[in-house]
Amino acid sequence: MTKQTIQGIVLAAGKSSRFKTDGTKLQYTLCGQEMIMFPVKLLNQLTIPTSIVIGHKKELVMSVVNAYNLPNISFIEQKEQKGTGHALKITQSSWNSDHILVMNGDMPLVSIDIVEQLIDTHLSLSADISFVKAHNQDPMIKGYGRVIKKGSSVTIKEERDLPADALDICCVNAGIYIFKRSFLDIAINHLTSSSVTGEWYITDLINFANAHKYSVETVDAPFDKIRGVNTLKELWEAEYIKRAELIAHWMNNGVQFSAAPHIQIDIDVTIGSGSLIGPGMIIKKGTSIGHNCRLEAYSTITASTIGDNVIILPYSVINESHIEAHATIGPMAHLRGQVHVGEYSHVGSFVEATKTTFGAHSKAKHLAYLGNADIGSQVNIGAGVITANYNGVSKSKTTIKDGAHIGALNALIAPITIGENAITAAGSTITDSIADNGFAIARTYQITKNDYATQLRAKFTAEKEQTTPSAPIKPAPTEAL
Ligand code: UD1
Ligand code: CA
Repeated sequence: MTKQTIQGIVLAAGKSSRFKTDGTKLQYTLCGQEMIMFPVKLLNQLTIPTSIVIGHKKELVMSVVNAYNLPNISFIEQKEQKGTGHALKITQSSWNSDHILVMNGDMPLVSIDIVEQLIDTHLSLSADISFVKAHNQDPMIKGYGRVIKKGSSVTIKEERDLPADALDICCVNAGIYIFKRSFLDIAINHLTSSSVTGEWYITDLINFANAHKYSVETVDAPFDKIRGVNTLKELWEAEYIKRAELIAHWMNNGVQFSAAPHIQIDIDVTIGSGSLIGPGMIIKKGTSIGHNCRLEAYSTITASTIGDNVIILPYSVINESHIEAHATIGPMAHLRGQVHVGEYSHVGSFVEATKTTFGAHSKAKHLAYLGNADIGSQVNIGAGVITANYNGVSKSKTTIKDGAHIGALNALIAPITIGENAITAAGSTITDSIADNGFAIARTYQITKNDYATQLRAKFTAEKEQTTPSAPIKPAPTEAL
């Protein structure tokens, strides 16, 4: 195999006009990954050095690609978007390999085996051009160039240039081609613009090869793998297919989905066997879920690590956090970022935490805000506890040591340290640190007056009667004279 003699070109300069948005379609994500990255990562996996043709929104495309830090990537600018043939032509000075592999930038479903098969066929048959074609069974899916085979001749006609009676041809061009460079050096000079649209078509290179008896080979791929994305509707369709693929993959690896069509999973996610993913779960890029977890329903988890046997109860939001084994989160918990929850701990309903660490077996089960807090193990945080960590300018730290018990409705004014096994009384505003085993109460004393409620009620009633204007007196009905 002579992969070293292949270079890749990804066409990504187009205007994305059918998207009808301001940006470029190549920046839009599918299952958490930008569209341009699908062909680019694929070629990278095959260790093929790749140039990306950029033009429309070029800085945006470059910044998306550069964020992945892949080796052997370069950019070539197509200043005017005159079509795919023109996009290839302007890369000519970069051709330095025996074969040039070209992919459209907008085909996110293509799998590596299709490209490998194309390369194998091309090299083993020593073809001048090889390209991928597919069978589109649905006449409602439009926009593809049609592949027309007659005897040994193979040509491609773009849909825009086809007569109406030829539109029912189902064999379509996928948008992946490999050219022998010696052929391309000659053929590229014969490319001209279409008399119908004024665009230069890369597909005319196949027509040139056919007319001049160069060898053209094709390989077949399933249509769903080569779908192009020209509109937002096609983006949704492609994402739907990709998501179903990902879910099927995890099902085949021992993960149960109780409502598969209602779950969103990104590409860079891993899930351990024995886990159950409930309806409405959104599991985003960079998340890894352990074995035997139960993610019940309607939670969003982003870039987080979830250990084994963790339970996530409904409507929780977990962002850039680490949950250790056997912990329980939710329902309705919000871990905003950099939260570490220790083994067997429970962060419960309406608890918001950020930049906070919990040791093992700690609990904050209801209604709390915990920010910049370092919480030990076996700690109990009562309902309604607030770490007052922000003075309007800077954030301060709250330390709660092992075994401490924070009473309900406490405000802990940071910076502050609550010692090991210390207790604070409910309703306290704690401003000073407490030593190990200490107790603090900081609330006003209660005054109780027996039967005073009756007196108060009488007083209020009297006050009300004084201030309410009396109703006008109705005249007595006059008897009929
Ligand atoms: C193209 C093919 C069509 C094929 C279909 C598969 C041509 C002429 N037609 O049509 O036969 O069935 O893909 O999906 O190639 N681009 C540039 N510069 C340009 C124009 C486009 O870099 O001047 C890039 C786009 O960003 C895109 C790719 O080339 O990533 C394909 O362009 P697009 O306009 O989507 O081609 P289709 O009309 O889909
Ligand atoms: Ca396209």
